[in-house]
Amino acid sequence: MRAPIGVFDSGLGGLTVLRALHERLPHEDLLYFGDTARVPYGTKGEKTVRAFARQDAGLLVARGVKMVVVACNTASAFALDHLCDVLPVPVLGVIEPGVRAALAATRGGTIGVIGTSGTIRSGRYQQGLAAAGLGPERIVAAECPLFVPLVEEGLGGHAMTRLAVAEYLRPVRDAHVDTLILGCTHYPLLSADIEAFLGSDVRLVDSAEALATAACGALAAAGALNDGDEPGRLSFILSDIPWKFAEIGARFLGKPIEGVESVGLDEMEAAGHALGGQA
Ligand code: DGL
Repeated sequence: MRAPIGVFDSGLGGLTVLRALHERLPHEDLLYFGDTARVPYGTKGEKTVRAFARQDAGLLVARGVKMVVVACNTASAFALDHLCDVLPVPVLGVIEPGVRAALAATRGGTIGVIGTSGTIRSGRYQQGLAAAGLGPERIVAAECPLFVPLVEEGLGGHAMTRLAVAEYLRPVRDAHVDTLILGCTHYPLLSADIEAFLGSDVRLVDSAEALATAACGALAAAGALNDGDEPGRLSFILSDIPWKFAEIGARFLGKPIEGVESVGLDEMEAAGHALGGQA
């Protein structure tokens, strides 16, 4: 019960998920790992992302977490099944909660999903929506590869971002979606630009919120919620300390990140091996 929840992402974007978890579960200790040495995952292939995700999760397990939350949409798309097979603790990914939240939000119209190239090409969100009975005419998906760097550069609201939003989201708007899944850790920071283009009638589903709700439910069902009344501690491990990490991290987390530990790739490789089996 008192062990931390582990959260990992390809970099700092998963801090949006950490923030949502901390708000939802204020007494839980949260241990965040960001693979800043190897970000982005969204442009990489399935095998590579799965091997990285395995090491990320292995590192958190080696630090004694009671649950692993895969904050990264791309890692959830390519590695969740594998992690469920090899990890000795429960694992939650972001896709299923995001799909569920979108189905609850839609008013019977078309649902859109946007994400990295990896997430969209994996087809995982689309499969989840189809499994709930949505026909292909009611699902529209778009890759938005420039959104991640735009957010990292703090360009929300900038003319360049508005241009990228219009370019990527035109097919989404033309399909008259009533609900849009923000299927990437970074996209909630572009909500205002997206809403300005699509109109405020379109419901934006933040998969970070949906995941926090799912984690809360899973821990409660397992009787593993922290029953203490101390405020939960946030700890951070990164595989590299990027030049702008304090600025970018604070933007995602909503407050400064303090006390960051860094790990080498050799330790991460060892953590992946320790899980046994093949990636
Ligand atoms: N965290 C990734 C995701 O949610 C976005 C950044 C990346 O490409 O690594 O898919």
